[in-house]
Amino acid sequence: LGARRRLLEERVRAFPDFPSPGVLFRDITPLLKDPIAFRTVIDILEDHLKTHYPQIDFIAGLDSRGFLFGPVLAQRLGIGCVLIRKKGKLPGPKESVSYTLEYGQAELEIQSDALEPGEKVVLVDDLLATGGTMCAACELMKKLKAEILECAVVIELKSLKGAEKLKPFPVYSLLQYD
Ligand code: PRP
Ligand code: MG
Repeated sequence: LGARRRLLEERVRAFPDFPSPGVLFRDITPLLKDPIAFRTVIDILEDHLKTHYPQIDFIAGLDSRGFLFGPVLAQRLGIGCVLIRKKGKLPGPKESVSYTLEYGQAELEIQSDALEPGEKVVLVDDLLATGGTMCAACELMKKLKAEILECAVVIELKSLKGAEKLKPFPVYSLLQYD
């Protein structure tokens, strides 16, 4: 895994003070631009989930950067992908959970019939920072009575302690930064 991880590290850029002063933005666009690196991300996640969670029913992708990885990974695994979207994007009956951003509140939604009770789901996003977004997604899973197997992300910003906020749900990340 070492060489593959190094390739991925080389394909993530850091931009200081974006989107606001003091924030170091981890930019995954070079990773998406390089088909070998992008394939490697999906390869590693596929291997991991097949080994640890062969019982998985669905991937749940988080709007919007989670959509870059979730559906591709689901295709690899031969399973479906359900969408967790930002407020106001989904028609029909839905569940909502609000969460706190750096500045103000936001809301995530899922269609009420997206998952049946007991269905086993892995949540996928690009990045775990404070964990606020992933935590709200987990709350949506609970509302639908789906079973969360794991929260999987490409990048984890360790110092923000998102994984602690998500306990008892396990977090899996490919790249970790302080
Ligand atoms: C970013 C990122 C994660 C979230 C992580 O999404 O894609 O979803 O922030 O932060 P947190 O752990 O502190 O909640 P963002 O809300 O910027 O929107 P986007 O995915 O639509 O670009
Ligand atoms: Mg996001």
